[in-house]
Amino acid sequence: MSDSDLSEQERLDNLDPLRHFRVEDESILPSQPPSTKEQIQSFNYGSLTVQLLVDASPGCGGIAWPAGHVLSNYLVHRGPSYLQDRHILELGSGTGLVGLVAAKLGASKVTVTDQLPLLEIMQRNINLNSLGQTVVSKELDWGKELPELGPIDVILAADCVYFEPSFPHLVNTLEALSRQPGRDCEILFCYKQRRKADKRFFTLLKKKFTWTDVDDDPQSEVYRREGISLLRLRPKP
Ligand SMILES: C[S@@+](CC[C@H](N)C(=O)[O-])C[C@H]1O[C@@H](n2cnc3c(N)ncnc32)[C@H](O)[C@@H]1O
Repeated sequence: MSDSDLSEQERLDNLDPLRHFRVEDESILPSQPPSTKEQIQSFNYGSLTVQLLVDASPGCGGIAWPAGHVLSNYLVHRGPSYLQDRHILELGSGTGLVGLVAAKLGASKVTVTDQLPLLEIMQRNINLNSLGQTVVSKELDWGKELPELGPIDVILAADCVYFEPSFPHLVNTLEALSRQPGRDCEILFCYKQRRKADKRFFTLLKKKFTWTDVDDDPQSEVYRREGISLLRLRPKP
């Protein structure tokens, strides 16, 4: 997205801060508007299907966002061998979608996390997909004390950059989680560019992480046109 496009987005945000949650803005909005209440939808990623209860009432995370679909598709592209015998942690999981995809692909353990109001919908989606043996839901609020999680192999985060006051908390949480003595932890971070202010997130991130674009995703050309990037983050030594 060009700087002038971003300026226009920011001008519109100032006029109407909630506009991202309105249905008319098809280019930015996820396919489910926030009026969505207790609907069960089916999402397909390759041959894999996830049943998802979506409900916007507990907050914006109650519906599925574009970067979540991109990250889900990428996991399917990587296939089961990428996730087998690994503990996957998803941050800002909302409905739990990406974590559920990871579990369906064969991850040995998945922890989906979000703020307290989203716990119920995550748990209902775990049950709906009969994944209670593999997936647990936990409250993990960026900037607050971390719950007990055990060793983590992969951290997933989709569409978590949108609220400026959370930026430092998200960066600190990523750092605290990924610096595990004697263990390499991979972070897949899927981001949709919406506002010029997002640059501040990357300024903060740069102090603690380096990153590269994921370069083996056959769908990247399509989603990059929508302002979505899939990044692999590494903590700076
Ligand atoms: C735009 S939604 C994306 C949800 C999901 N990852 C997806 O792609 O569909 C952002 C998510 O971040 C969560 N979030 C926002 N601030 C948070 C915080 N301080 N701690 C934990 N999660 C947070 C929201 O509750 C929401 O579920």
